[in-house]
Parts: sequence; C-alpha cells; structure tokens
Amino acid sequence: MATLKGKKIIVVGGSSGIGLGVAAAALESGAEVVIVGRSAEKLTAAEKALAGAGLVKSIAADMTNEADVFRLFDDAGAFDHLVATAGTPPPNYPVGETDMQFVRSFVDSKFIGAVMLAKHAVRTLKTGGSMTFTSGINKDRPPIPGGSVVSAIAGSFSYFARALALELAPTRVNIVSPGWVDTQMWDDIVGEAKSGFFAEMAARLPAKRIATPADVAPAYLYLMESEFTTGETMHIDGGQRLV
Ligand SMILES: NC(=O)c1ccc[n+]([C@@H]2O[C@H](COP(=O)([O-])OP(=O)(O)OC[C@H]3O[C@@H](n4cnc5c(N)ncnc54)[C@H](OP(=O)(O)O)[C@@H]3O)[C@@H](O)[C@H]2O)c1
Repeated sequence: MATLKGKKIIVVGGSSGIGLGVAAAALESGAEVVIVGRSAEKLTAAEKALAGAGLVKSIAADMTNEADVFRLFDDAGAFDHLVATAGTPPPNYPVGETDMQFVRSFVDSKFIGAVMLAKHAVRTLKTGGSMTFTSGINKDRPPIPGGSVVSAIAGSFSYFARALALELAPTRVNIVSPGWVDTQMWDDIVGEAKSGFFAEMAARLPAKRIATPADVAPAYLYLMESEFTTGETMHIDGGQRLV
C-alpha cells in the first residue's frame, strides 16, 4: 500500500458531506487537500471545520462548467489523486411525471461532470495516481417511485471506471458506492422527515445505524492507497444491499 503522506488530493464535493469526510481523513493521513465546490460560502465553512488538520486549499468551481473545470486543474497544479463526491439531489417522481429539464441537469451534474473532471484531470495527474468517483445504493435498491434515472446513472459509474482504468493505466480508476450517509443532501431532500427515515432504515440495517461521512471515508482512502486496485466498485453500506 502506498502512503498518502505528502500527496496532493483534489476532492470535488469536499465542502460538505461525504467529500468533507474524505478531506478530513486524508489530512489525518498526512495528505495535502484541495476542496472544490460551487459555493464560496460552503468552502469557507469547510476550511474552518478542517482548520489545524493540515494543508487545505479551496477552489470554487462548478464541475458542469468546462471553463471552471479547466481553471480548477490549472489552479491546483500537479496532483496525485482525484476524488469526486459532488452531486445534487436526484429526480424522485413517477416516470409519467418526469421533468426532463430536471433529469438533464441531474445527469449533467452527476455523470457529465465526472466525464469532464476525468478529461481535464489527465493533464496534471501524476503518474502513479488515481481517480475515485462516487455511485451509491440507489443502483442496487432503487427508490420507488422515481428511482430509474438515479439507479441507471449510479450503475453506469462501474462501467465508466472499468473502461477508464484500461484507457488511463497505470492511473487507477475506481468507484465508491455508499449506502445511506447522514449528510446535508438528506436535509435538502426530506427535511424534518429525515429522522423517521433514518430510524426505520437503521433498524433494518445489519450495521444497525446510519453511516456518517467518517464511516465511508476509509473506502476512498483505501482506493487511493492500494496500488493493485483498479476498475473496482467498492461497496460500503452497512449491509444495505442485503436488506
Ligand atoms: N448521502 C447519501 O446517503 C449518499 C448515498 C449514496 C451516494 N451518495 C452520493 O454521494 C455524493 C455526495 O453526497 P453528499 O451526501 O455528500 O452530499 P452533500 O453533503 O450535499 O455534498 C455535495 C457536495 O458536492 C458539491 N457540488 C454539488 N454540485 C456540484 C457541482 N456542480 N460542482 C462542484 N461541486 C458540486 C457541493 O457543494 P456546492 O453545493 O457548493 O457546489 C457539496 O460540496 C452525491 O453524488 C450523492 O448522490 C450520497
């Protein structure tokens, strides 16, 4: 296993939730971290939360905007690992009521954004580095109604990584697929109903509780450190695919 000590890691989505958890864990391992998100306010709050943990820089960029993504990699300079956790709430209404504009913007932010990151990361990603993207439990347990788009997009990441791992070798490309994680995204999607959803799921899960970002961060660290893992999808879901 390689060490992350002294490595530069770009975490797109690092201002909140899973990405912020990965940033904190990477700093603890001695890495230098660049956190990326659209909102300067969220980035400032995240930098404060990470203060004292190590070398952190933030860059405001929208991964759906190619000029932003180009500038991001210019500003960040040569780096060792790319982690992408960024995403926005998925569509969740019956297929007959599909809002095509919303679906397009979801696919743009989740999948096209990942393609754009990969396209521009290759310019400055050092030899021996890796890219890790994020899918999720919705591919295995689609929410009903309305889960078809998020399930298809999340599932597509495994195939994206397999093809890129071959094309970009020796750069490694992997996916983390988390189960439910307690983050801001849940507050945005279900608001006060979150505690009820979480209590019901926690009772069913083999792990008997809902994950925190710190619970899933080690999967990202493993995929960066393991020099022999590529084209892989790592599930970290407390057994959620079993129930
Ligand atoms: N939480 C879960 O239960 C769960 C489970 C499985 C999979 N996932 C997936 O994990 C990913 C992260 O979710 P989370 O729960 O950590 O959400 P979160 O707390 O809302 O964090 C999302 C992060 O992505 C950034 N972001 C969103 N759109 C962006 C864009 N276009 N360009 C750059 N940054 C962008 C956000 O910052 P700005 O808003 O400032 O841009 C924020 O830093 C999502 O893709 C989600 O689908 C989550």
